[in-house]
Amino acid sequence: MRIALLGANGQLGHDLVPALQEHEVISLTRKELDVTDYAQTRELLLTMSPDCILNTTAYHRVDDCESRPNVAYEANAIAVLNLVRVANDLDGILVHVSTDYVFGGTARQPYTEDAVPFPLSVYANSKLAGEFLVRSICKKHFLIRTCGLYGIAGSQGKGGNFVETMIAKAKRGESIRVVSDQVVTPTYTMDLAHQIARILPLQHFGLYHMTNEGSCTWYDFASAIFQLSDIDADLAPTTSDVYKTPAIRPRYSVMENARLKQLGLNEMRHWRDALAAYLKEKAPFR
Ligand SMILES: NC(=O)c1ccc[n+]([C@@H]2O[C@H](COP(=O)([O-])OP(=O)(O)OC[C@H]3O[C@@H](n4cnc5c(N)ncnc54)[C@H](OP(=O)(O)O)[C@@H]3O)[C@@H](O)[C@H]2O)c1
Repeated sequence: MRIALLGANGQLGHDLVPALQEHEVISLTRKELDVTDYAQTRELLLTMSPDCILNTTAYHRVDDCESRPNVAYEANAIAVLNLVRVANDLDGILVHVSTDYVFGGTARQPYTEDAVPFPLSVYANSKLAGEFLVRSICKKHFLIRTCGLYGIAGSQGKGGNFVETMIAKAKRGESIRVVSDQVVTPTYTMDLAHQIARILPLQHFGLYHMTNEGSCTWYDFASAIFQLSDIDADLAPTTSDVYKTPAIRPRYSVMENARLKQLGLNEMRHWRDALAAYLKEKAPFR
């Protein structure tokens, strides 16, 4: 399969390249293709004629989206419509990545693909708008919701990742306060990349939840990072009411990989095992 990989120098994009080595991957960074430019996107992709467009691009500075809704909708919805139109014209597959933040957080058990979204922020609304465009217009699509990504390359959009931020703060001797009232599933981009590679050839199109297994609060996650790295950090829990942010986050956004499990395709390991693997794999680059 010939795959145009968009957002290739992002943290997920970085890990998709080795995961897709069986395929012909054309890696495109923002420099080569700005997805918000419809004319450029159309011309370049029609010339390359990929079988699959794999979109990992997004504007996901969640708090900045509150004051820049036009930028959020342009990147997370209108650009996605551009890709849908090109994918349909190519009769190709669109793989698009969305977020756990589409959920409102009142559930107490993991959200399946059948759960009704209730976005709480501009970012979440813009991503849900992108989802609707994919689901309603794109003939062949994989729409993938994931959560709490961290990877070797670090998030380009957010400037690093949570794991590395925690380790850097601890090494500087800072006192670290992390919310203990938001429950998530941190997900290693390497695992997500391999899971995407696993489903891609199967043509079971549609919506998928794809996260590592299990769940924890951000505070639990920080504790595990320090424990597995053998770092003695000054870490204490705080609450979302104390640590106020411009964008509201769901208090609970754990998702069940229900569709993958139904199809017997779930390869995602527990988040703690994934974190241990990441810390080992990242060590030579730190
Ligand atoms: N990070 C998370 O915790 C998280 C959680 C749930 C879902 N997601 C979703 O997962 C996907 C991948 O996230 P990630 O963490 O891998 O992000 P990332 O590291 O920030 O990578 C995104 C890439 O997209 C590129 N990009 C942004 N706007 C673009 C544009 N207009 N045209 C072309 N390229 C553009 C960025 O390029 P530049 O480097 O030039 O900006 C960056 O390389 C996104 O859809 C995100 O919404 C992320």
